[in-house]
Amino acid sequence: MITIDYAKCVKCMKCLMVCKRGVLRPASDGSGRPEVYSGEGAECFSCGHCVCVCSAGAITAAGADSTGFAAAPSSVPAYEEYIGFIRSRRSARNYKKDHVPGELVARVVDAARYSPTAKNAQGVCVTVVSGGAVKKLAGLTFDFYKNLMDTVASPLKKYAFMLLAGLSTVRTIERNAPAFEYGYKMWLEGADLLFYDAPVLVIVHADKTLVMPKDDCGYALYAMALAAETLGLATCINGFFLRAAERSSGIRKFIKLPSGHEVYGAMTMGYPALKFSKVPARRPVNVTYINSEL
Ligand SMILES: Cc1cc2nc3c(=O)[nH]c(=O)nc-3n(C[C@H](O)[C@H](O)[C@H](O)COP(=O)(O)O)c2cc1C
Ligand code: SF4
Ligand code: SF4
Repeated sequence: MITIDYAKCVKCMKCLMVCKRGVLRPASDGSGRPEVYSGEGAECFSCGHCVCVCSAGAITAAGADSTGFAAAPSSVPAYEEYIGFIRSRRSARNYKKDHVPGELVARVVDAARYSPTAKNAQGVCVTVVSGGAVKKLAGLTFDFYKNLMDTVASPLKKYAFMLLAGLSTVRTIERNAPAFEYGYKMWLEGADLLFYDAPVLVIVHADKTLVMPKDDCGYALYAMALAAETLGLATCINGFFLRAAERSSGIRKFIKLPSGHEVYGAMTMGYPALKFSKVPARRPVNVTYINSEL
């Protein structure tokens, strides 16, 4: 709920400029002030932009939305510093056994608050798996894939599965079978090629009915991955687990996934066991610029 203190308002109309949701409009009395409109077509999604742009301090957001406003930083990292930072993030596949303190994990998780969310839904949920639970989850993930491999190895089961999941899914499973067989063999021998013995697994999930939950979770996961780097931790996004979590009821139960939620991302996290002395080459972006004169 947005309110305007007209005693403070200097009629700069910056709040109207930032609010594209039809909530702040020119006052109908012709006074040249903004007014809060609550009729049809006005939908405040509590983005807080009006509060933040009003240097006169005339706008207040009531209720839960009013907490957590802070002064904007006076500067941001230099471009070179920023690029150097994101270039130095590596997908870590070797972790120290060291325990990651809970307060450090909490700081990483907190970074998820500040990534953008469609319609400002702020519905990204995080589940942190740690200790022996990571190994248990790895076991459940391997069980899931083993079951899948066994299914496509049996002609009858494969046919039934194909009717259900489609030919392209079966082909994908068959293509990945040798890599899985190797990972599974190593797992049975005590090597973890899934989570790399990481002490922590961070999972992002959200209500499926949000506007764009998958995107929201993806941005939040990356925000957390970068936050982890600033704290001396390293991460690796785990698509292999994600695909299993989407389908395995055992995994969903183990991570206590709320009903109506979907898992949209996961990453292992821990102290890196290796230091990279270089950053790798990456292909230039295939970019298209469209800029015709009208
Ligand atoms: C997946 C996704 C889709 C979005 N789509 C739009 C959009 O179509 N138009 C728009 O104005 N903002 C869009 N946004 C921006 C959000 O509305 C914005 O992140 C949110 O209101 C929070 O504001 P902030 O990014 O300034 O913190 C989108 C954000 C995300 C993550
Ligand atoms: S931004 Fe603040 S001062 Fe400017 S018109 Fe809006 S309420 Fe008034
Ligand atoms: S919080 Fe955002 S949507 Fe709501 S009135 Fe302010 S600018 Fe508009």
